[in-house]
Amino acid sequence: KGGKIIFSGIQPTGVPHLGNYLGAMREWKRLQDTAEPDTKLFFSIVDLHALTIPRPREELFENRLKMMASLLATGLNPNRAAIFFQSSVGEHAELQWILSCTASMGYLSRMTQWKAADILLYRATHVPVGEDQRQHLEFARECVSNFNHTYKTNCLVQPETLISPARRIMSLSNPLQKMSKSDPSPKSRILITDTPEEIAKKIRHAVTDSTDKVTYDPANRPGVANLIEILSSFDPQGRAPARLGEQMEGYKIAELKQVVAQVVSDELAEIRERYRQYMSDQEKLKEVAFQGTAAARATARTTMGHVKRAIGL
Ligand code: ADP
Ligand code: NA
Repeated sequence: KGGKIIFSGIQPTGVPHLGNYLGAMREWKRLQDTAEPDTKLFFSIVDLHALTIPRPREELFENRLKMMASLLATGLNPNRAAIFFQSSVGEHAELQWILSCTASMGYLSRMTQWKAADILLYRATHVPVGEDQRQHLEFARECVSNFNHTYKTNCLVQPETLISPARRIMSLSNPLQKMSKSDPSPKSRILITDTPEEIAKKIRHAVTDSTDKVTYDPANRPGVANLIEILSSFDPQGRAPARLGEQMEGYKIAELKQVVAQVVSDELAEIRERYRQYMSDQEKLKEVAFQGTAAARATARTTMGHVKRAIGL
């Protein structure tokens, strides 16, 4: 039995926000750093999926570079993990076509996005995703059992879902909504490239409530709870939010905000600097993509060989 194969993807949507960082990118880095030596890792910037929302070409071009720089700035290591653009591996589209012909259309049409092929192409055994993406994995697993059953093969592999243990980070403007790039207000989210001044300002303006003292009460005080949860996400001792809330009881909200702003700024300082360096070295970004593509393609071609043989192509 071979080692694990971990695959995950992220769309090139510009500079990631704190939710993307904590929910996905930092998690990928943790998986990379704790992986067994025989575990293979594939991290894809899924630019073909980004085409479903048409944008000016310059924007897509820039966003791809920004995401690549962000992943490297987070600490993903191109010598350990294949980091690549989905569109550079033609087999993604090829497998997607084949699966779309074999999957039941009723099930297909109920899905908003279709991401099974990306995962199955690498015969991934483990796929880290946020809670919100669980349904993609259910669908991928269903595709595998359909395909393998129909063609009496075992060439596709059912992936296991690794649900990110990270908490959902909420919008700074509306703590009942998740922090998202789709929010029209830029004040609602912290970007991983924000300066300490920008971070402090956004957190100072974060919506809380009219009670001035800190308590951790997610149901009744979601804005304050979100700030404490951000703090907990960065806590070197890994203290749970409830525990941090207790320890900060008596603090004023303004004081809590200062602490959170300081911690977030400190944590993002190195990432911001590395991001700046990578963005000013596009040759390096291309080199990493080239290296990642080579590794991804080798695996993708092997899988497609098996798939084609199984269906008679
Ligand atoms: P957005 O909501 O900004 O469009 P995406 O849906 O593109 O973000 O998600 C990209 C990755 O970031 C996914 O793995 C998702 O689970 C994670 N993610 C997005 N927003 C958050 C958030 N607010 N908190 C935690 N993780 C998040
Ligand atoms: Na989204």
